[in-house]
Amino acid sequence: MKVLVVGGGGREHALAWKLAQSSQVAELYAAPGNPGMAKLAQCVPLKDPRQILAFAKEKSIDLTVVGPECYLAAGIGDLFAQAGLPLFGPTKEAAQLESSKSFAKRICRKYGIPTADYVVVESYEEGVAALERFPEPPVVKADGLAAGKGVLVAQSHEEAKGALAEIFGGRFGKAGSRVVLEEFLPGEEATILAFTDGKTILPMVPAQDHKRIGEGDTGPNTGGMGAYSPVPVVNYEVYQRTYNEIFLPLLEGLQKEGIDYKGVIYAGLMIKDNQPKVVEFNCRFGDPEAQVILPRLVTDLVSICQATVEGRLEEIELTWDSRAALGVVIASKGYPGEFKSGFPIEGLDTEGLLFHNGTGLADGRIVTAGGRVITAVGMGDTLASAQAAAYRLVEKISFTGAYYRSDIGWRALS
Ligand code: AMP
Ligand code: GLY
Repeated sequence: MKVLVVGGGGREHALAWKLAQSSQVAELYAAPGNPGMAKLAQCVPLKDPRQILAFAKEKSIDLTVVGPECYLAAGIGDLFAQAGLPLFGPTKEAAQLESSKSFAKRICRKYGIPTADYVVVESYEEGVAALERFPEPPVVKADGLAAGKGVLVAQSHEEAKGALAEIFGGRFGKAGSRVVLEEFLPGEEATILAFTDGKTILPMVPAQDHKRIGEGDTGPNTGGMGAYSPVPVVNYEVYQRTYNEIFLPLLEGLQKEGIDYKGVIYAGLMIKDNQPKVVEFNCRFGDPEAQVILPRLVTDLVSICQATVEGRLEEIELTWDSRAALGVVIASKGYPGEFKSGFPIEGLDTEGLLFHNGTGLADGRIVTAGGRVITAVGMGDTLASAQAAAYRLVEKISFTGAYYRSDIGWRALS
């Protein structure tokens, strides 16, 4: 088979790494890929969905697997479907689960899926009036995709008003033409991803992401500074309730809405007293969650993706490595704010799972090319040994301005 991975970050590197293990794969391509993926796949410098489709047609690609949400929200799933080419990932309409927070909230409310109470507002004045309904700290969310920067847990109503002014002032463009105001949910966060073909839904092992830049989960939000799996807060009861109270009603709701969802559903959860509530849905694997979940997946990923695309997911049984996995993101100093790129990276030949998030080539050397640069993943019989293995790997990597958190996994290990 010929398989194409779309995207070029750590999640896509992990997808390519897992797909490359399949005996079914004869040729692996990545668009655009990255220097880490280039060791596994032939990278083609394409980013435009139409050009990617043309490439897939020319090469007779048997399966295309999409990593990032932006391609899905732009409709790459629809383009491939119209052309009759198999693609793993939802259509543009289905991807609204991520690309429109008001859409996701409406589905939750309509189908009884536990989530924070909310209102949708369409102007600053409407927002200010509605704020009174929410005790402090209220949560303010731009409706559309904002690269993880569109959400503010405001400390006060005053701060929330400032956020409303910024969003309606155009900070996120069209993504901010609507705002979701939400009740704050206390608890511990975790992520459960699931494969679905629109009929069957198969949850994966849980993961916990560390979204904040600073130790102890403090400071600004990032794309994710590290992750681990399994997660103690997701005990058997929480896992079962997520399946019964969130995934099953969601699937039924999507069916009733006439939306045929094929791909991965990401449920970001807030858990308190064993009750999971939805904080957000995403329409794809998480990054860095994928880097710790895929190394634990034993089942052939090509078979899962094919069964998903062909609506045969009921035939698949997921099996998992019982070992724990823990990933530490090494970022560029300054991220998630301004940072510099182009610094040569040392230590990349070290044995171990080193997934490239933001790397590039300059004068034949691999250099930093993003806020998040590398995810170093360790595995072990316990979370503590996986953590030790991950940090041993981190210490082998160096570049000017490298920053990482030294406490990934702390909630489970302290
Ligand atoms: P989101 O992009 O919707 O996942 O929001 C980003 C982060 O903001 C989440 O990972 C949470 O840490 C926090 N957050 C979002 N909504 C809420 C909420 N209703 N209650 C508490 N924290 C929230
Ligand atoms: N790590 C969070 C996300 O991928 O959305």
